[in-house]
Amino acid sequence: RYEIVQRETSAEILPGLRTPLWTYGGSFPGPTIEARRGRPVTVTHRNELPVPTVVHLHGGRTPADSDGYPTDLVLPAAWPQAPQAMPGMDGHEGGTGTGMADPRAVTSRLRRDYTFPNDQRPTLLWYHDHRMDFTAPALWRGLAGLHIVRDDAEDALGLPAGPHEIPLMITDRAFTADGALTYPSLDPALRDRPGVTEPHLAGVLGDVVLVNGAPWPVHETDAARHRLRLLNASNARHYELEARTEDGRRLDLVQIGADQGLLAAPVTHRSLPVAPAERYDLVVDFAAAPVGSLVRIVNRLGTGRTRDVMAFRIARPAPADDSRIPPRLATDLPDWRREDAVRTRDFAFRAGRMNGGHGWLIGGRPFDPARTDVTVPLGDTEIWRLIADVHHPVHLHLVGFRILTRGGRPPLPHDAGLKDTVSLRPGESAEIITRFDGYRGRYLFHCHNAEHEDMGMMANLEVV
Ligand code: C2O
Ligand code: CU
Ligand code: CU
Repeated sequence: RYEIVQRETSAEILPGLRTPLWTYGGSFPGPTIEARRGRPVTVTHRNELPVPTVVHLHGGRTPADSDGYPTDLVLPAAWPQAPQAMPGMDGHEGGTGTGMADPRAVTSRLRRDYTFPNDQRPTLLWYHDHRMDFTAPALWRGLAGLHIVRDDAEDALGLPAGPHEIPLMITDRAFTADGALTYPSLDPALRDRPGVTEPHLAGVLGDVVLVNGAPWPVHETDAARHRLRLLNASNARHYELEARTEDGRRLDLVQIGADQGLLAAPVTHRSLPVAPAERYDLVVDFAAAPVGSLVRIVNRLGTGRTRDVMAFRIARPAPADDSRIPPRLATDLPDWRREDAVRTRDFAFRAGRMNGGHGWLIGGRPFDPARTDVTVPLGDTEIWRLIADVHHPVHLHLVGFRILTRGGRPPLPHDAGLKDTVSLRPGESAEIITRFDGYRGRYLFHCHNAEHEDMGMMANLEVV
């Protein structure tokens, strides 16, 4: 049981300055929820923010009534009854969305219990706000936290643990000179990118990289193997990460897990692309870095300040009993084959017109909570063919999936394992396969560029 009070506070993120935030429990990131597989956790959220909120556990296998449907609001004390009074596009909160209300909205006032069964493969999940039209600004202001599911089988593998297991929530933010967050960014270089006719159509970027809420942190540790559990919680920024020693060598990034848990066997990368909402479970061996030196985590896609992410200062040698990476990891990965699929669906993720302006559409339509886009009988296996115009990290609620093909070819090395978000690159298509099981009810799929999501790129998935 957890109790989280959503409230406004301020924190010293940049030295000497106070940054006003919206938080889960007074901190950014919010409190980390530690869960065991199969043991339900109830999280009571109390809303003391000035706006309605919605909590979604990303990657969670969650009954629909706790999945945080975008109009299933927790209202603050002084807020008129939703949905008629949804502020829509008036802009005072900085939202960029469709401004439509849902006749089926369920709301509660001040507090709500969310129940998470944790009946799923162990992995790093995260919870974040999911209110219709306002997910991006709420996430930007700080409404995000981690939720880790573990089980005995994973514990028995002897992976790096304790101080050698480090979750890294990576985000970018933009600040004013007095330390406040700016949304969308005030910096024209970040806001107005080539070919973008509306300021934040491509998604909002910041020029300060935060790891677990701190700008470019330096973490002091020893030369052991470390399990780095990466999450890109940025609204729109893509990273391509590598680990570099001071003498310019690149350390191997040994991937042991994907969004939805451990791989069957480790996959070694020299650098790793990480799209918004993706998680990668890595083991990095710092033994090659001399004591006293730094290992830098560098973003190859960054320019200027956003090339740096964080650093590890290797202060001590590795302990004599350093952990190892087992050659075999998970044995329970679903092995859906093409022949198992009872149907195939196509979805195009493209820019288009919405409410007389620019929007982001799935299959030519912007999100409408009153329309069911996809109906799937519980237990059916399907192949979805996704195609993108520009970069779109596509996320499905409820289920994990395997990537069958990318751009008509076999998937890339980092597509291994069970995913809940697939990063479609510009002009690219991908085929994914999944079995829709777990729970019946209304779920979502959407682009996890948070601005794209708010600007319509979301659809309803009903499991019946
Ligand atoms: Cu991370 Cu529908 O969300
Ligand atoms: Cu999700
Ligand atoms: Cu997108």
